[in-house]
Amino acid sequence: MKLQSKFPSLGTTIFSKISTMANQYNALNLGQGFPDFSPSPYLLEKAHAHTQAGANQYAPMSGAAPLRCAIQSLHRDFYQAEIDADQEITVTSGATEAIFCAISAVVHPGDEVIVFDPSYDSYIPNIELNGGVPVRINLNEDFEIPWGKVKESISAKTRCIIINSPHNPSGALLKTEELDLLWDMVKDTNIVIISDEVYQHLIFDNKTHVSPFNDERFRDRTFAISSFGKTFHVTGWKVGYCVAAPNLTQEFRKVHQYITYCTPANLQLAIADMLDNKRDEVRGLSAFYQQKRDLFQDLIKDSKFKLLPCSGSYFQLVDYSELDDCDDLEFCEKLIKEHGLAAIPISVFYDTPPAQKVIRFCFAKEDETLLQAKEKLAKL
Ligand SMILES: Cc1ncc(COP(=O)(O)O)c(C=O)c1O
Repeated sequence: MKLQSKFPSLGTTIFSKISTMANQYNALNLGQGFPDFSPSPYLLEKAHAHTQAGANQYAPMSGAAPLRCAIQSLHRDFYQAEIDADQEITVTSGATEAIFCAISAVVHPGDEVIVFDPSYDSYIPNIELNGGVPVRINLNEDFEIPWGKVKESISAKTRCIIINSPHNPSGALLKTEELDLLWDMVKDTNIVIISDEVYQHLIFDNKTHVSPFNDERFRDRTFAISSFGKTFHVTGWKVGYCVAAPNLTQEFRKVHQYITYCTPANLQLAIADMLDNKRDEVRGLSAFYQQKRDLFQDLIKDSKFKLLPCSGSYFQLVDYSELDDCDDLEFCEKLIKEHGLAAIPISVFYDTPPAQKVIRFCFAKEDETLLQAKEKLAKL
């Protein structure tokens, strides 16, 4: 039997590679983006309580009603946006599933999808699996969208544009005025926006989260996708959601129902309790992570790494050009083997990486872990 690969050029994700190597060399892992601290005890108690109380069978396909209502209330509270909990919210198994469902719902074979590099690594395989053609545009050196290039790249075949703000890996944010530029480009087209907003509650320096979904003009053409893994420090629970207008949601659910059908009921109900009763934890998330960003920046500032701006997410990009001349993958390997510290090279998130020497650290770690990193950095 000979199996013809659908992804002949696709290897193992860089996160597995770096984490495996970090374990092998017993390195401090500031690579993969997950917290090394515990979630709220309240959330854990609620997950246990709902499990004991019998929430162990299939949840409704669109999501447990209490969670969809809690999401509706969250959007009303944070963005003054009215969303229909039955027709516009779908709970998914992480944002990863939601991204796949949104792309699959709209991309036909031959359709072009505009993606900005460096891009989250699931976008391209998801587009290609649907027969779509990724049109990859490099962000400029400040990790902002080069709108002129976007305009040039839009064609009759453009079906979709994927936006990610706060951006992984740079922490750059979409600005309100950019929505005007985007609107001018899409208003007379059928282009759909997929807005990956998994870090929407991690925004620093009193800046704000800008989402096309919360702008009336884009309301009927946007899938906005988020992840409770990021918001409540439970990346392993894989609970995310998508909000979109009823006609988009209808198509989205046609895919979702045959991918996972539903997401664990006990976890959904625990998250609903968190949103209803501990909403201040969501409100406090930006301040919580800003303290970690500031600590990490402070620890690194006397090293030869150059800090790049970070306005959101839990990632910090650093330029290592004063330390080494090698490429970023080789530099990350050396960092693990010789200095016991793991980071992620960012060239892997590009089709055509620019000539930059930049790697990504994750600061979603205990202060103690970050302090240990300082000792290692001091030896560089
Ligand atoms: C930009 C971005 N989108 C989507 C995801 C996936 O989120 P989830 O873990 O909820 O599937 C991640 C996770 O790292 C991410 O960084």
